[in-house]
Amino acid sequence: MDIEAIKTQIDSEIQNINSPEELEDFRVRFLGRKGIIAQLTSTIPSLPQQERAAVGQDVNALKNKILSLINEKQKLITARPIQPAVTLCDISMPGIVQDLGHLHPITKVVDEICTIFNRMGFSVVEGPEIETEYNNFTGLNIPLEHPSRDVFDTFYLKLPRYPVIPLSRSTGKQANRQTGKLLLRSHTSPVQIRVMKSRKAPLAVVVPGRVYRPDAVDASHSFMFHQIEGFMVDKNIRFSDLKGVLEALAKAVFGKDIKMRFRPHFFPFTEPSAEVDISCIICQGKGCSVCGKKGWLEILGSGMIHPNVFKYVGYDAKKYTGFAFGLGIERIAMLKYGIDDIRLFFENDLRFLGQF
Ligand code: DAH
Repeated sequence: MDIEAIKTQIDSEIQNINSPEELEDFRVRFLGRKGIIAQLTSTIPSLPQQERAAVGQDVNALKNKILSLINEKQKLITARPIQPAVTLCDISMPGIVQDLGHLHPITKVVDEICTIFNRMGFSVVEGPEIETEYNNFTGLNIPLEHPSRDVFDTFYLKLPRYPVIPLSRSTGKQANRQTGKLLLRSHTSPVQIRVMKSRKAPLAVVVPGRVYRPDAVDASHSFMFHQIEGFMVDKNIRFSDLKGVLEALAKAVFGKDIKMRFRPHFFPFTEPSAEVDISCIICQGKGCSVCGKKGWLEILGSGMIHPNVFKYVGYDAKKYTGFAFGLGIERIAMLKYGIDDIRLFFENDLRFLGQF
């Protein structure tokens, strides 16, 4: 083998080496047990006596040269700077847009309405979705024969009955006949009972939350929906206070030009009671398909708290008066955003949710 030719081969090969793997391959080929240096060394004993020393030195020198080349290359490869940033991150490329979640439209409307009431001095309270039959009906002066108590209108729970606590005489006959059944609350009004039983008047409270009714699901009905209950109790609270508060709400949610009307109605827990309509926000009161050509849209029920309710919670009905109202969030959200199907709120289709 020609040592000079090997030197040239080494010089050109080492230049093209760029990785630890290539360098190792190079080392094995030249310095390995069956490598070129080993082969050269093995030929020495068969050389004429006088040449052996010189060839031996040449092979040794070649081996040292290869070792030092490998050493240098090793340093170069390991000390190589990290790839320049520009190849890792091209700052002229469009950024990666993260899909951020956001509040559900129902949560937004609840927040908006609670904020409006909070500014008017109402505190925000929550109650449980599993209620007693007493709080949901009896305490609200809803008689035993009322159709809303029917199993077709309320989800009763098949839970073990809890012991019935005897009620005081002042709660009356109906209350004594309570069965102690549990149910999924059919409205947020029972939180009136909870709050008034645990706090003294004066009070001003709003209660957002889920309610449940066994309704067949269609474009305007759902077995679960949201309400906000509100009530205020103090000395000398009058119907005009109710009107003022609700008008402030309607104007804050639907704009200053909105008109409002109170229609006489019946609710067992208020007397007098009224349903409240706003002028149709689609046709501005002219009459369209959304308002059924009436020009008005019903948005809530309200009234002055019935003295029997005060009696059930132990408030002095001669001393205190109060108003109460209950509104459906989905209805308000549908009007506000122009949504024509309540099911859209609960299907969690991102094409719908992404619009809010
Ligand atoms: N609880 C009633 C319902 O779910 C709504 C309601 C009407 C609440 C009149 C009230 C009220 O507080 O005064 O249909």
